[in-house]
Amino acid sequence: MRTRGTKTARPWLWRGAAGIFVLILLELPFILYATGFGAEGMLASLGITGLGEASHLLRDGAPATNIAMFLHMGLGGLLSLLAPLQLSGALRRCRPRLHRGLGRVIVPLALTTSVAGLAYILLRGTIGGSLMDLGFGLYGLLLGLAAIMTWRFARAGDFQRHRAWALRLIVLALASWIYRLHYTFWTLATGGLYSRPDFTGLFDQIQLFAFYLPYLALLELYLRLRPAPSLTPPR
Ligand code: HEM
Repeated sequence: MRTRGTKTARPWLWRGAAGIFVLILLELPFILYATGFGAEGMLASLGITGLGEASHLLRDGAPATNIAMFLHMGLGGLLSLLAPLQLSGALRRCRPRLHRGLGRVIVPLALTTSVAGLAYILLRGTIGGSLMDLGFGLYGLLLGLAAIMTWRFARAGDFQRHRAWALRLIVLALASWIYRLHYTFWTLATGGLYSRPDFTGLFDQIQLFAFYLPYLALLELYLRLRPAPSLTPPR
């Protein structure tokens, strides 16, 4: 009989690992953009170098909000890279210490990304105005909440709830990339219909919530339809 965790189950585990590898490859251009822009912006915010191109995100005389913005990009890029690795059953079963170690990196990354993004929204506000503040603000709050709950239930040894919150955290960690994907596909399909440079077009306004809420809803459906496998804590 084929059971998970035995030698015969390994092809299944490694197929999952291959899927995660492909996902990360697809994400890579965005991750490189976010971490590169974040690092360049941090140097510019500290007055060490300038920005290659002018950006509304770097404002003279506002070092705190500049730093918050570019810090969230760099750390958020790392978060988008590392979070999908936690989906790997192979990693959880064969390298449980690595799974736990990665978790200890991912939770603070998510919290710092969330807090820095929220600080920027509160102190300066987004380019798109109050609706964009609301869409991105809710996104940041949910990311922070998912990080705290994932950590909390892991510490409590409640691995059913830990799994559910960790999956929410991963969806939210991928959502910033999904936001850019939506724009890429929409621009290819329509040439950018109902989208404006200040993000006030109808498409932009739908996007403010559509990059994370529908995916969270789908995940909730998945969590209800597919009973969670009985989980044993990683040792
Ligand atoms: C999950 C990882 C995240 C990554 C990789 C990321 C990356 C980025 C990047 C690269 C930009 C600049 C886009 C551009 O101008 O080209 C940006 C903008 C922004 N992000 Fe994030 N982000 C993440 C999460 C978040 C979260 C959780 C929040 C909310 C708390 C947030 C709030 C913002 C805001 C407010 C802007 C500026 C919008 C404007 O132009 O006014 N981000 N992000």
